[in-house]
Amino acid sequence: MPHFDFITTDIDRAVAALRAGGLVGLPTETVYGLAADASNDAAVDRIFSAKGRPRGHPLILHVADLDTAERCGVFSDVAHQLAARFWPGPMTLLVPRTSNVSDTVTGGRDSVGIRIPAHPVAAEVLRRHGGALAAPSANRFGEVSPTTAQHVVADLGGHLDPDLDLVLDGGPCAVGVESSIIDTTCSPVQLLRPGAVTADDLDTILASLAGPSGPSRAAGMMAAHYAPACAVHAVDHDGPLHSLVVDGVDLGAAHTRVLDLRDNHDVAARELYSHLRAADIDGIATVVILMPPATGLGAAIRDRVMKAAAGRQPPVG
Ligand code: TXA
Ligand code: MG
Repeated sequence: MPHFDFITTDIDRAVAALRAGGLVGLPTETVYGLAADASNDAAVDRIFSAKGRPRGHPLILHVADLDTAERCGVFSDVAHQLAARFWPGPMTLLVPRTSNVSDTVTGGRDSVGIRIPAHPVAAEVLRRHGGALAAPSANRFGEVSPTTAQHVVADLGGHLDPDLDLVLDGGPCAVGVESSIIDTTCSPVQLLRPGAVTADDLDTILASLAGPSGPSRAAGMMAAHYAPACAVHAVDHDGPLHSLVVDGVDLGAAHTRVLDLRDNHDVAARELYSHLRAADIDGIATVVILMPPATGLGAAIRDRVMKAAAGRQPPVG
């Protein structure tokens, strides 16, 4: 395994690599991130090269605590309430940025995305690092997010610098889909990307607050895709598997696979990306996905499957 040396559990080595301007594959409870010291523009710039991501596409900041978050962004009352309820956890807040955050991170925007992850390894790296770490998901741009250290090396190993970069192994991610993104710079606040913090969770917090904020509005994030190489068909099907018919697809064909995500949302979210990656490795041409209802984490699963079904998009910019 030529890339084996990238993977480590040594947190000191990861913190030293970050200080030296290196990139670290960082386990979080959602997906693995590709982290760089947010105060080092040259290091942040290397994230875009490693991912093949267009510059100007904003990155999320990861911090250890609210004090550090408030050095990077300005928190409204609603933002404070959300942070108090859901951090550490799988939620990113978009807030107006402060002058401590560089244009390289925000792509020149006035807002910045911030999150305090709950994964103990990420929390310890952030605590020892002290400042903010910029980290998008650690996949090549437009492809499926990684939920294990091995996925990160498979995607990015050829684009990392073995003298500078490494992947911290924190085991498989517990949530398995990216954080919920909530834009708090508008009123009412908007759920831009569904995740383990759901629209219902958000509405419960908003309903408990006095003031003008009405219920949240969900919005899509069309720029992001989460696509494997195989074709993905999303199907709503209530009945038993043997009664499944999908127009134009031979369900019995050797290169077709059916993935039933209708039950147990937690397991479905945790395993979705591994299933999509396995389909590509196994040479599957078409995956038919039986969709969960849009309740709870089901909304996030449906969102990612629909993006996978839209297929790989040519890079923009
Ligand atoms: O769970 C997660 O959020 C993972 C882990 C590593 O924390 N990170 C992640 O980052 O999914 P990324 O870059 O793959 O997705 C973040 C999304 C991108 O679509 C980006 O455009 C959007 O958040 N975003 C970040 N900052 C933004 C801003 N200031 N305004 C609008 N969108 C922003
Ligand atoms: Mg991503």
